[in-house]
Amino acid sequence: MRRGQTLTISTTSTATNYGIQISPGALGLTAQWARHCLRRRAKKIVVVSNRKVFGLYGALVMNSLAEAGFDATTFFMGDGERYKTVRTAESALRAFSHAGLSRTDAVVALGGGVVGDLAGFAAAIYLRGISFLQVPTTLLAMVDSSVGGKTGVNSEFGKNLVGAFHQPSGVLIDPAVLSTLPPRELTAGFCEMIKQGAVGGRALLKKTADFLSLYNMSSFRMHRDDKEFRSLIAGLIAEHVRFKAGIVRGDERESAGKTGPRSRKILNFGHTLAHALEKVTNYRYLRHGEAVGYGVLFAAEVSKSLALCGEKDVKLLYDVVHSVGPLPPLAGIGVKELFRAFSFDKKNISGSLQMVLLRGIGRPVIVSDRDLPAYHLNKVLASCLRKWA
Ligand SMILES: NC(=O)c1ccc[n+]([C@@H]2O[C@H](COP(=O)([O-])OP(=O)(O)OC[C@H]3O[C@@H](n4cnc5c(N)ncnc54)[C@H](O)[C@@H]3O)[C@@H](O)[C@H]2O)c1
Ligand SMILES: [Zn+2]
Repeated sequence: MRRGQTLTISTTSTATNYGIQISPGALGLTAQWARHCLRRRAKKIVVVSNRKVFGLYGALVMNSLAEAGFDATTFFMGDGERYKTVRTAESALRAFSHAGLSRTDAVVALGGGVVGDLAGFAAAIYLRGISFLQVPTTLLAMVDSSVGGKTGVNSEFGKNLVGAFHQPSGVLIDPAVLSTLPPRELTAGFCEMIKQGAVGGRALLKKTADFLSLYNMSSFRMHRDDKEFRSLIAGLIAEHVRFKAGIVRGDERESAGKTGPRSRKILNFGHTLAHALEKVTNYRYLRHGEAVGYGVLFAAEVSKSLALCGEKDVKLLYDVVHSVGPLPPLAGIGVKELFRAFSFDKKNISGSLQMVLLRGIGRPVIVSDRDLPAYHLNKVLASCLRKWA
């Protein structure tokens, strides 16, 4: 497949490179691309998806796979974060086994980040790891979750705390599928992009903000046949993927000891509050990306309160986040419950809460809670919650 843009991701620990193909209309060529990414011996494929996404794009993918001679079957999971569980992963493993997947076969994840994380995790543990391909269908999954090899499920201990690093054998991004994505999901995806811009640098943030000033969330459907729009969105996605890939390349497994501005931890910017918000609302009220939108603003406010960054940068982030559409109000959510939820992230990182803050746009810094007094965080959080109620 030569159309569109192809980025190559190098990973160190697995000593493999994988391609990320970005081109409008690429979904119809899934099999050709899959053949290219997988070893010749791959015969069977289980496509993991949910009924909603599969109803929209499943036929295109299955027809393409069948034409190329793959023996392709499906596994459907429920639609939503609450289905990203060990139990669903177990059902997926059962489906892989019933389909007779062997070590040389593969799994294709067709869907958003929930499907991608779950399918990748099941592929990582089935027969101690088989190949999987990511076909992300949400903006968030295209620019973030499908790239980098973090797979996993939620559990009673917290979000994404059971998982594995398992790099995909390829990622196929077809921006045309964004035309069916509800505006709220687009908002969520753009919030993750703003996060990446905030830690990635002024150029990436500006490119994202410029795009948002040209197109609002409800105009995606309208512009889907507009050539300039298609090329701009594909280019913007490619920029974000390139940024994420660069960070992953330098710190594939998010080493505990790495805390510099190029460590993979910086991608968790905005996620301390985001994970806590998702947890206290039972993963039902906010989209993950929407929670990240709030998390980005909170981290920026904490940075300002510690005199790490200035008012101008905080205002810039507020302006860009506001331009992606309204975030659901946070009325009724208390500081205390959020603090309790922070402790799940804390356990995750050898007993201390590490928060990514900003010394300015593109200048992330990782700060431990030893340098972040609880009463201070408390005060900033209370003031934010008053604003966002
Ligand atoms: N692995 C990582 O590095 C990483 C990074 C960021 C986020 N995540 C995870 O990603 C998840 C969030 O992913 P998400 O925001 O994609 O949510 P999601 O997977 O729940 O998808 C959002 C909704 O959009 C629907 N949908 C998907 N594609 C569609 C399309 N083209 N048209 C119409 N509807 C479509 C889905 O069915 C779902 O209802 C979270 O679980 C988060 O933890 C993982
Ligand atoms: Zn995220």
